[in-house]
Amino acid sequence: MNRIPVALGDRSYDVVIEAGLLSRAADYLAPLARGRTTAIVTDENVRRHLATVQTALSAAGVESEAIVLPPGESTKSWAQLEALTDRLLALGVERNDHVIALGGGVIGDLVGFACAILKRGCRFVQMPTTLLAQVDSSVGGKTAINARAGKNLIGAFHQPSLVLIDPDTLDTLPERQVRAGYAEVVKYGLIDDPDFFTWCEENGVRLLAGDAQARAYAIAHSVAAKARIVAEDERETSGKRALLNLGHTFGHALEAEAGFSDELLHGEAVAAGMALAFAFSADKALAPAEDAARVARHLAGSGLPVDASSAGITASGQTLTAHMLHDKKMEAGTLPFLLARGIGRTYLDREVDLASVAAFLDSTRGAA
Ligand code: GLY
Repeated sequence: MNRIPVALGDRSYDVVIEAGLLSRAADYLAPLARGRTTAIVTDENVRRHLATVQTALSAAGVESEAIVLPPGESTKSWAQLEALTDRLLALGVERNDHVIALGGGVIGDLVGFACAILKRGCRFVQMPTTLLAQVDSSVGGKTAINARAGKNLIGAFHQPSLVLIDPDTLDTLPERQVRAGYAEVVKYGLIDDPDFFTWCEENGVRLLAGDAQARAYAIAHSVAAKARIVAEDERETSGKRALLNLGHTFGHALEAEAGFSDELLHGEAVAAGMALAFAFSADKALAPAEDAARVARHLAGSGLPVDASSAGITASGQTLTAHMLHDKKMEAGTLPFLLARGIGRTYLDREVDLASVAAFLDSTRGAA
């Protein structure tokens, strides 16, 4: 068992990582239930894990009520938020109650936001069941729904009280989803931990093949990295937490072009975005070309896209940079870009000219 603290003063909490944890969830959830009914919010794809958690709670004498939502990004909507908050109010959820978010990033983001606003804020526990949610979105308190104008534009910082991660949930996760989540694991090496990137190069294949030890190590290492960064810059004001957006600006443009659909998963877009950020950095002689080549080699070798074409996107550089203008990270009309001076040396560059990004993107598809 691994217990990683997220140190945020009176909003501090632990992330517990343990194989088989779902069936022992009552050890952690029963003390939070205070003799009341626990609401568990999940989606249709997670029913199997829901049954495990409800059986564990009921064996411990805790009553639970499941709210099962449709799977997919479209669930992060005003309509689902309204329906969810109505259900939670009908259940009589109080400010000191803990609502359980059992699922991937969509469930975590929606439930977190619902709990941020329900009765001006109630407690919640993240129980992430995808690799992407385990290593990134369940930790750090970013919660949101999507708006017509873009993804995650309506939200709040609202920290969970506890994060419970059972790596065994990955056994039943579709392989493509595991690969997509793995991009966010590699991200931590690329940001500021070159030794961890080397570990990924040496162990990525084992991890993706389901090796339990490699998986547990990667999750714990990633969560510890995220906890460190979030503790330093909870609300993304100092620039430190912004480093977690490596690959997200290029990736966002690709996702937008794909219509934020399952054609291109978020983690896949991030993989392509990170490779593009390194290739752009090398193109501008900011980073060694060999580092950019290593990044692309490892991501491609892990079955992930590394540019627009391998992500299935044929749009021009200009079309892609136009999507970037809708990025919520725009500041006073300029878009801060995450670039790299090398592997483990990511930095925030506020001087990037979008026209040069467009020209670079065209050059990567051989249409300059
Ligand atoms: N996923 C980026 C962050 O949590 O800041």
